[in-house]
Amino acid sequence: MSLHGKIALITGGTSGIGKATALLFAERGAAVAVTGRSAARGAEVVSACEDRGAEAIFLAADLGDPSVCKPLIEDTLARFERLDVLVNNAGVTHAAGTLETTDEQYFEQLAVNVTAPFLLSREAARAMKTQGGGAIVNVASDLGLRGEKGITAYCATKGAVIQLTRAMAIDQAEDGIRVNAVCPGEIHTEMLERAVRDRGHSIADGLAMLEDRVPIKRIGTPEEIARAILFLASDDSSFCTGAILSADGGSVAR
Ligand SMILES: NC(=O)c1ccc[n+]([C@@H]2O[C@H](COP(=O)([O-])OP(=O)(O)OC[C@H]3O[C@@H](n4cnc5c(N)ncnc54)[C@H](OP(=O)(O)O)[C@@H]3O)[C@@H](O)[C@H]2O)c1
Repeated sequence: MSLHGKIALITGGTSGIGKATALLFAERGAAVAVTGRSAARGAEVVSACEDRGAEAIFLAADLGDPSVCKPLIEDTLARFERLDVLVNNAGVTHAAGTLETTDEQYFEQLAVNVTAPFLLSREAARAMKTQGGGAIVNVASDLGLRGEKGITAYCATKGAVIQLTRAMAIDQAEDGIRVNAVCPGEIHTEMLERAVRDRGHSIADGLAMLEDRVPIKRIGTPEEIARAILFLASDDSSFCTGAILSADGGSVAR
């Protein structure tokens, strides 16, 4: 799967799945713009992309603030002159049930997980339509497809991203813009380690418990999700739009 000559913007590219995606895209010939809040980690990812022969830039932005979305697309276009792929990967979770979720936690998850993907996708689609096409890949979650105890608002936001994917896929179909989503299951990243700690487990015990619940009996890696994202971003998935691709070791199938 190649992204030779393509320009990609990846949100949350400073860690976990987004970082693995940036590095894989760089290896497969894309120029990449990565976003995040941490400039130090952004610089490391840019340097690692350059080591793989790719052009790369870091754009600092807190996606909790909706006003940053349009400038992120504008800055990418200013640097690279086009945008072929948008990966809406940045996400935030709080391990809290309905009664425990604070207003602040709810609105933060809504802003980062739903509002930012919508605003970024809208601006990207305007540019992609002018260019004659593009691909948008949303990183949703198995928790957008099923319920889980103690994580209500996150489940709601990921369900919204799945419906955003389907609705935009139809809206943008005749503009040559494909819109798809990947639904990771349990993936070993900082987010998963935080979730395990927030539930009062040690990392080792928490991961072992989660592993046991996954049908294929292991936690996934960020690189495994990056490859699913690459497929949906590349021309190899040219007939896929509105697809919701589970990459979860069988969790949702069970
Ligand atoms: N890990 C899993 O088990 C799992 C399962 C299903 C779905 N997912 C989804 O996969 C995506 C990536 O998660 P991950 O596991 O790779 O998590 P991670 O390692 O915690 O990375 C999250 C990324 O999002 C960025 N981010 C978080 N809040 C942000 C904000 N307010 N503004 C801008 N950027 C922000 C972070 O960048 P900075 O820290 O630099 O701001 C970081 O690059 C998320 O959408 C998550 O919901 C993960």
